[in-house]
Amino acid sequence: AVRFIHDCDTGSDDAVAIFAATAHPELHPIAITTVNGNVDVAHTTENTLRVLDHAGARVPVYAGATRPFVRPDFPVPRAVLNRASQLHPEYLDFPVAVSRAEDQGAVSFLIDAYMDDANADVALVATGPLTNVALALATEPRLAARIPRLVIMGGAHGNGNVTASAEFNFWVDPEAAEAVLSAGIRDVVIVTLDATHSAPLSGADCDVLDGIGTPAARGAAQLIRHRLEHDQAAASGEEGGGEVASPVHDPMTVAYLVRPELFTETVRAHASVETSGGRTLGELIVDTRPWCPQPPNATVALRASGQVYREFLRAAFGQPASG
Ligand code: BDR
Ligand code: CA
Repeated sequence: AVRFIHDCDTGSDDAVAIFAATAHPELHPIAITTVNGNVDVAHTTENTLRVLDHAGARVPVYAGATRPFVRPDFPVPRAVLNRASQLHPEYLDFPVAVSRAEDQGAVSFLIDAYMDDANADVALVATGPLTNVALALATEPRLAARIPRLVIMGGAHGNGNVTASAEFNFWVDPEAAEAVLSAGIRDVVIVTLDATHSAPLSGADCDVLDGIGTPAARGAAQLIRHRLEHDQAAASGEEGGGEVASPVHDPMTVAYLVRPELFTETVRAHASVETSGGRTLGELIVDTRPWCPQPPNATVALRASGQVYREFLRAAFGQPASG
């Protein structure tokens, strides 16, 4: 199985990623670290523990940063971010966690984990703001050479979602994102909004998960349906009907670990993040110019296969017993 550490801000789509990864026979999350993001870190930690308990999975959880890498707070206070707060309630609708987080903090855990030669194969998956990863790299710069692979959900090549230029995870902590991308980690994959929006999921996909019937599959379906309802409400009044489909961003990172053909369009390029722009704060800049002065530092995923994504989810959660 592919061993990895999952840094996340659970968060509804982070939760789907955790459900899928803990259920998938070829994936082995050895630890989860939590970060301030969709909701504050006390809530992302509790939500992560709820998801693990609901799935019956035992993965150690380490609580991380309470505020961004450099800034005292988000560029715009969380309270103003109505869109994000409606999509990611403070508490996910699963029973209160019985499990507890570890005493060690996320940043110190990440350093210990990657300084240990026994973990030379352990990938790092980040589906929230990159604060913990940036703090770990700043504290122990040797880490950059010891992380074999980093898969990030963040950024957009086209429009962002928080602003026209910026995607949420990079906008929340642009200095962290820039620090991580420029740290020299050898295998960095960036899963952009362009990729996640190209393979949205629908009610029919939720029906399949409900049909599988395990707590994890039904939990994932519940979370995806909530996203569909949210997006449908946001789109009401717009032209056109038909079936609503919503991007489910974060699970694409873990899907990629076992199904690299998930991404049907990628570009190897120098990627960086705007840290000072007024309108463009948090923008991902992918420099595809042949004469770009800097060497490529990332593989940027721009398009995904809906078929491969669905196959991954079915493989993760298992097929219904029969019929
Ligand atoms: C990203 O932002 C968060 O709200 C989601 O969990 C995802 O990681 C999408 O922009
Ligand atoms: Ca997330």
